[in-house]
Amino acid sequence: MKSSCAFPLQHYTRRAVEIIIEADAAALADRAAQIVLGELFRKPDLVLGLATGKTPVGLYERLRKQPTLFQKVRFFNLDEFHGLGPTDPDSFHSFFHQHLLNHVKHEAKNVHLFRGDMKDFEEEAKLVEDRIRVVGGIDLQILGIGRNGHVGFNEPGSSLGSRTRAKTLEPDTVAHYAAGGKTPPNHAITMGVGTIMEAKKCLMLASGADKADIICRMVEGPIMSEVPATALQMHPRAIVVLDEPAASKLKRGDFYKWVFANKWRVGQK
Ligand code: GLP
Repeated sequence: MKSSCAFPLQHYTRRAVEIIIEADAAALADRAAQIVLGELFRKPDLVLGLATGKTPVGLYERLRKQPTLFQKVRFFNLDEFHGLGPTDPDSFHSFFHQHLLNHVKHEAKNVHLFRGDMKDFEEEAKLVEDRIRVVGGIDLQILGIGRNGHVGFNEPGSSLGSRTRAKTLEPDTVAHYAAGGKTPPNHAITMGVGTIMEAKKCLMLASGADKADIICRMVEGPIMSEVPATALQMHPRAIVVLDEPAASKLKRGDFYKWVFANKWRVGQK
């Protein structure tokens, strides 16, 4: 039946946030890799925003199995600790090289990772915002979520319209990264919530029972700066991939599974 409505049907059938629930962390990584590879096949010079943390490590392991797909990709990242230069083993710069960039063919000129050792963070923030603009915006931004609801290093209370800037971190966030007796810096530079929201597509990953409460608030709670990740509810093309433990407190978990299983797919009769 032909619709007489002014908007295409997909405007009504598509949830702003698509929730995909997988059995475990390995299946989550498989699904995330499938989504990223799909975007790479569609656009070989994809502008890809990377995220740190334990959660996306399985995704990067899978992406490294396709080392030739990244030759034209433009890379950005979400955040970086203050004072950590690119060669510091604890920097996010090192993290991305260790988990992805050292294993895939890429052009050094296409790697735009934050420099945590920049004296002037305001200048660095402006530079990164300008670079994102010059390449036409982030096509796909990978995201994780902190147990306090942060996205990037946008801690609770961050303006939902914020731009790239320096932030003071919560003690728990710093503790999350403490390893081998070393305490990470209390400050970081991060893409703002508003900057992240301008990505054409966002792919958020969350794994484990310790994320269940915050995932429930992020997906089904009110949108508020107290939980910066709730801004994603307003994103037109956000995909949230969860494993069962992270999804365990969602009130409508079964509904999201049903929607995904019955999703209208291109070419479907
Ligand atoms: C951080 C990072 C975030 C990341 C989050 C979750 O603090 N700045 O970008 O998404 O922690 O980390 P994990 O995946 O280790 O739980």
